[in-house]
Amino acid sequence: MKEKLISQAIRVLEDNFQEGGFTIPCKGLYPFQWKWDSGFIAIGQAYYDASKAKQEIATLLDAQWDNGFIPHIVFHNESDTYFPGADVHRSDLSPVASKKYKSTGMTQPPVTGFVLEEMYRIADDKEDMFAFIKTQIDKVYDNHNYFYKNRDVNDEGLVFIYHNWESGTDNSPIWDDIWTTMNPPEYTFERRDTTHVDASQRPSKREYDHYLYIIEIAKENNYNDAKIAELSPFLVIDPLFNAMLIKSNQALINLYIRIGGNEDKIAQLKKWQAKSIEGFNSKLWDDKLGAYVHYDLRKDAPISFVTSSSFAPLYANIPSQERADALVHTMMTKFGGEDKYLCASFDPESDRFDPKKYWRGPVWINMNWILFYGLKNYGYTDIANRVKEDSIELIEKYGFYEYFNCKKGTENAGYGGGDFSWSAALLIDLLNN
Ligand code: DGY
Repeated sequence: MKEKLISQAIRVLEDNFQEGGFTIPCKGLYPFQWKWDSGFIAIGQAYYDASKAKQEIATLLDAQWDNGFIPHIVFHNESDTYFPGADVHRSDLSPVASKKYKSTGMTQPPVTGFVLEEMYRIADDKEDMFAFIKTQIDKVYDNHNYFYKNRDVNDEGLVFIYHNWESGTDNSPIWDDIWTTMNPPEYTFERRDTTHVDASQRPSKREYDHYLYIIEIAKENNYNDAKIAELSPFLVIDPLFNAMLIKSNQALINLYIRIGGNEDKIAQLKKWQAKSIEGFNSKLWDDKLGAYVHYDLRKDAPISFVTSSSFAPLYANIPSQERADALVHTMMTKFGGEDKYLCASFDPESDRFDPKKYWRGPVWINMNWILFYGLKNYGYTDIANRVKEDSIELIEKYGFYEYFNCKKGTENAGYGGGDFSWSAALLIDLLNN
């Protein structure tokens, strides 16, 4: 069973690999290179083809901007199966954008640091992988420097996102109350996602109006971060995004120590790290919910809902053991019933929960992967194994889908794109652990 699933997963990744040296998340729906997808994909590739894993990351980092920013989509090719494409995002408006690649002017969770460390852990030829890491690591450091310099508006070690697509959890109910503070025009455009995927599994037209409106504001200001911080109606501290940054800080510290020298960078990373962990624990913990939550910088108030992002700090060793215990208790009470697969992306007890719609409830394999390692960090081996077994069962039963219904016994519980790269890549890792 294991060998068969692994070879199917490799086939998915190979089918999605492109000539330009990168892997698309899936055919039709996502025809370019996505930042956090790329990272998870490289982890899977490292098991069977280290050269592809290296290429994946090198290609992504080649699209880095002069200020250290790494975009969320790199438009390597022309494709009319996706909206909004390069002509909408217009990265050329920024004076510091890559001259070589068209891209978006927004980013995605900073996974690349810990992905480098994972690639080293997985590689058979450690020397070769280490040599590669040495050629790339400074770019990831520059990316972290970009975040702390430009996006930590309160100087508290926590960086903002200015668009829901930066969070990775694109249409989470978390954003619903932000949309009510905005009144964007009704844009005319042709959606492409709903030609690939049933509309009931995707965001609404009105949600897209909001998404486009924020992009227009960023474009009017040439993607200048200070202007965006001042003007974007969407400005949030996201616990998943910041946990990924913190996990990647630690990975960079570990790797620089292994490389030797680099004292200044190690010292700087440690400073960021201490401040971020402290800021995270004081600003994002909601005692009443027993969970980490998002924080709306526009309203200067927490957004009090439990999502799978609430549990990501376990992966980055952010909570104390006591707090981790409370967090896992919340997770198991709300998300962990025997009738459900772990882990829904949004609180199944909330009336905003939707088991079919993109990030409004379904189970995602990348979040399960983060959770698997996070739970293990704090000694929750049994629950970690349940997350792993649930992930394997979902893929075995339904296929390599983008997301899944958490309710056990659902017919056709696989949703979104099929043959989805990170579901395949991370399954390879889970099956090897
Ligand atoms: C989409 O088009 O839904 C993408 O996930 C945005 O990153």
